[in-house]
This record gives sequence, structure tokens and C-alpha cells, in this order.
Amino acid sequence: SKAQAAPKSRYVFEEISHGVDETHHVAEGYDADILVRWGDPLFADSPDFDPANQTEASQLRQFGYNNDFIGFHRLSDDRAVLCVNHEYTNEELMFPGIGRQDKKGFADMTAALVAVEMAAHGGTVVEIVRRDGKWAVDTAGRLNRRITPKTPMVLTGPAAGDDRLKTSADGTGTQVLGTINNCAGGITPWGTYLMAEENFNGYFWGGKDAAAAHPHATSLKRYGIPGGWYNWGEHDTRFDIAKEPNEPFRFGWVVEVDIMDPASTPKKRTALGRMKHEGAETIVNKDGKVVVYCGDDERFDYVYKFVTNGSYNPADRAANMDLLDEGTLYVAKFDADGGVEWLPLVHGQGPLTAANGFRSQADVLIDTRLAADALGATPMDRPEDVEANPVTGKVYVILTNNSKRKADQVDGPNPRAQNLWGQVLEITPDGGDHASTKGSWDLVVQAGDPADPEVKAVWNPATSANGWFACPDNCAVDPEGRLWISTDQGGSWKKASGTADGVWALETEGEGRGTGKHFFRCPVGAEMCGPRFADDMQALFVAVQHVAADGTKHWEPFGRESTYDDPATRWPDFDPKLPPRPSVVMITRKGGGKIAV
Ligand code: FEO
Ligand code: CA
Ligand code: CA
Ligand code: CA
Repeated sequence: SKAQAAPKSRYVFEEISHGVDETHHVAEGYDADILVRWGDPLFADSPDFDPANQTEASQLRQFGYNNDFIGFHRLSDDRAVLCVNHEYTNEELMFPGIGRQDKKGFADMTAALVAVEMAAHGGTVVEIVRRDGKWAVDTAGRLNRRITPKTPMVLTGPAAGDDRLKTSADGTGTQVLGTINNCAGGITPWGTYLMAEENFNGYFWGGKDAAAAHPHATSLKRYGIPGGWYNWGEHDTRFDIAKEPNEPFRFGWVVEVDIMDPASTPKKRTALGRMKHEGAETIVNKDGKVVVYCGDDERFDYVYKFVTNGSYNPADRAANMDLLDEGTLYVAKFDADGGVEWLPLVHGQGPLTAANGFRSQADVLIDTRLAADALGATPMDRPEDVEANPVTGKVYVILTNNSKRKADQVDGPNPRAQNLWGQVLEITPDGGDHASTKGSWDLVVQAGDPADPEVKAVWNPATSANGWFACPDNCAVDPEGRLWISTDQGGSWKKASGTADGVWALETEGEGRGTGKHFFRCPVGAEMCGPRFADDMQALFVAVQHVAADGTKHWEPFGRESTYDDPATRWPDFDPKLPPRPSVVMITRKGGGKIAV
């Protein structure tokens, strides 16, 4: 339908246009500056970035690859801590002469390159300082830290110490090295950093026979282990399920990092369940309990929330540090009439008994997916970020797409078959109580092109030809309670929308509900991650992930897959000696002031 007289937008900016090219674009009147790039120094002694000769030692002192989640924690007026996940690596863009592993095999991936790759995973905690309205990395920051797949961590909570978590290196089932595939996450009210372990299955290998012979073969199959995406198992036997059958059970958790102590040991909080955790955003409920919302990002997987037993104590940070070890994990069941029920994952209740293969709460948590299957949770169109809006009390579930949903599998919150475009779901907890087991749901938009009737997109008609998007992934609620969406269409961006990924404002309130508005656009081949507002709303940080990687052969001016030597773009440096680099971009208003106000 034709654009009607638009209700006045709460997002004050001139939107940008759809498109795809070598660089990024932001609304007029804003600066989009590169804050930190893969390989940038994080410490006073960090070596210069030398991509053709990168070593594990240098990478351990530098910003990692494929920045995803961004957390912002203020220390003072002009000093803050930035927490950034490094989800995964693209060998073909990181190393000269290395092809895509999934196409070329692993022959060229040496132990030394694997060590670089591992060091480029994990997370970065770095202090940033503001001068003249712009933030910059402080390499002298006392809290600066790299977290990697080799950082010593502990498993805590109900599953810690279980036999299924014991390995040849750790007879206690509580000591684990590192974290992998950290996608989104969260910053808790007490100032810790939650790193969600997502597609950990891809890092394990050992072949089909080892998987079939495994004592927990059903569990491995349900989680897609071994994925064989990387050859780490060749060089580090803990990633080989034939040699370390229990190592995969030590990944797929939410990791909590005390960012105020750079020597602290990160904790894997087993109470929050084991899945392909997309994110872990918290809200303090009206009764003081802390609620963590989580999505399990796979086609037909589920939406979860965790409710602590204890209450948040704003006056005593130390009292909150183990809140995430005790509480109840719930999975969502949506009905066709707009209702949602949260089903508890508690051993001994309903089907979660020894007769059905759950010996204990440890089994329920290690096999969260199997437990949620048994409870009859609602299979969703890839749950990515789930975030509560503290101003309105509503909860946003970002459902990215599901190409495999068939016509006879559609339901209320997942209304389209062959859904290439995703939707944004809103949950209203009963009585404004995030701990309630009841609520209601509604869709804000069904994404995709509203001008194409086959897409069956649903938007507010006030949405312009540039205001719609496809494949919502991450989101941010700004300090004024307004929702912003970032997208990840992957290699099929041309089919999904024909425009690059980016950031869109998405109105959730009043007559404008369901109106999108385009604010920032990525360079070719990138997805948009992270979006995070500074608490004063004077900066928006966005993570440009895997620039030049995705679907570049479908981009006409280029038309080939990117490589280190011949990438679709050399963003952000545009230096013929440098490869493209995933980077965090800082968006500020020219002349200062709050974003989009
Ligand atoms: Fe790492 Fe679900 O995206
Ligand atoms: Ca994601
Ligand atoms: Ca993504
Ligand atoms: Ca990605």
C-alpha cells in the first residue's frame, strides 16, 4: 500500500538508502569512526599488526577477529570499559594463500595458523576514554584483557563436577580451558560481562563413527557434534571427540567475566543451560530477582529465560557475583491465541525423570535441548537476541529466518513457510512480572520486502522503501526505551533483501508501531552485530563482522568469492597491503548530543 501520512517518528534522523558497496554509510549529521580493528593494539607492549606474519603471541596482545557482541560499562564521565566478543574466524581473509576450509579442506591449516586462529577467538575487555566527544582505546587501561579458547575458566552451578564434564585433563569436571564462538551476550547490573557460547559444535571433530559410538550419541546428534568446521582437533586433541568424548559438554554455556579484575577466572554458569546461546541479556525484575533472556539459535529451536532465586543487591556488588548459579531455567511455549507459557526445566518434574534419560539436574542442563523437546516447547524461526525493554516492560525476541519451515509447520509466532526474512516477536509478561510463567505475544513486523506479495511481509505502511529489512539478528533498546535492530542475512542477502546488512530503528509504540527506518549500512559481505548505546546515548557502537566474506560473488561489481589477496573490499583501511578487517564503529552526532533525538 502507498505510504500514508506518517505518524511523527520518535527517531529523529534522515534515513539512508538501501544499497551495497565497499564502505559503510550512516545518516547525515553523524560521524561513523573506526574505534578498533582486528589486530589493533590493546596493551602498551602490543606488536604492530603485520597480517602476513601474524603469530599467536602477537594476536594475544591484539584485538581479535569477527567482533560480535558489544558491552559498554561506564567507569567515570570520560572512561568506560568496552567488552567485545570475537565469534569466529575467516581463514580465507586472515591468512595469505589459505582458501575457505569448507571448500578446500584443512591441508594448509598448520598448527601455527590454528594457534593464531584460536588467539583471535574469545573476547576483548578494553578501557576506552573520551576526548572532545569521541571515544578511543586506552592501551594503558588497567582492566584491558584478552580472553581466548585457552583462558582457564571454571564450571559452576548445578552441573559442575558431573561425570559428563570430566576429561583426561580435568578429573574434577570443573576446570575448563577457554570459550569459543561467543556470539551475543550481556552486561549484568553488577557490571560483569556475559559471553554466550553459540555454535561450539563446529569446533569439534572426530568423524561420524566416533559420534555414533559415543555414549551420549543422541545428545551429540541433537547439538550437531562434531561439526568439523575447523581442524583444531588435529592439533589440540581436546577438540577430537574420539579422544576426549566429554569435552563438547564443557561448551555451550554462558560465561560470566568479572571485568573489574583482569586476573579473575571466568565462570561458566551451568544453571543457564547448554545450547547454542545467542545472547544473555538481563533485567532486574520488580521483586529484585534477575531474569536472563536467551535464544537458542538454530532452526526450530527455543526461547528461554532464567530467573534467579536470589535478589539483586545494588548496594553490595560482591553479593551479586554468584546470583547466576541458583535459579530456574524456563523454555517458552507459545499458543495460537497469543498466549505464552514458560515451562520449568527442573529434574523430576513432568517428563524430566530418569525413566526418560535425565538422571539429575545436571543431565537436564547439559542436555537442555533434549529436556525442552520433552516438555513440548515451541520450535521457533532461529531465536537470536532476546532483550527486555526496561521502560515498557515488554520483551523482544528477534527471530532471524527459517528456510526449512514447511507450510504444515507454520504457527502463530512463526507464520511463514520457507521464511527467508524473519520476524520480531514481542512478549508482554503477565502483570509486568518477568518471573511470571505466563504472558502474551504479538508480532511487531514480519520482515522482508513489503512490495513483494510473495514475501507476505507485514510492516506499518509508513515504512519507506529503505525502512524495511530482512533477517533481524541483534537488537538494542536505547536509554529512552526505543528499539533498534541489526541484521544478518548471510550469503543469501541478495535473495533476502538485495541490500547490505545494517541498523534500522523499529518503532514498537503507538500509531507508528511496525515502522522501520534505516540508520547505518555495512560494507559488502559484512553482517551487523553488537549495537550498543553508551548510557548517555551520545554514542552508538556497532560491530562490522566478517566484512568482505558473505555472498560477495553475488555482488555484481565484484562477482567472486573474496580472498586475502583479492577481497571484495579492503574496508576499513583501503590499503592494498592490508586485508579487510572486522571493526567496531563508533557513531556520534556531529557537534555532539544524543543519537536520534
Ligand atoms: Fe552468531 Fe546466531 O548468530
Ligand atoms: Ca547473532
Ligand atoms: Ca549473526
Ligand atoms: Ca556471523
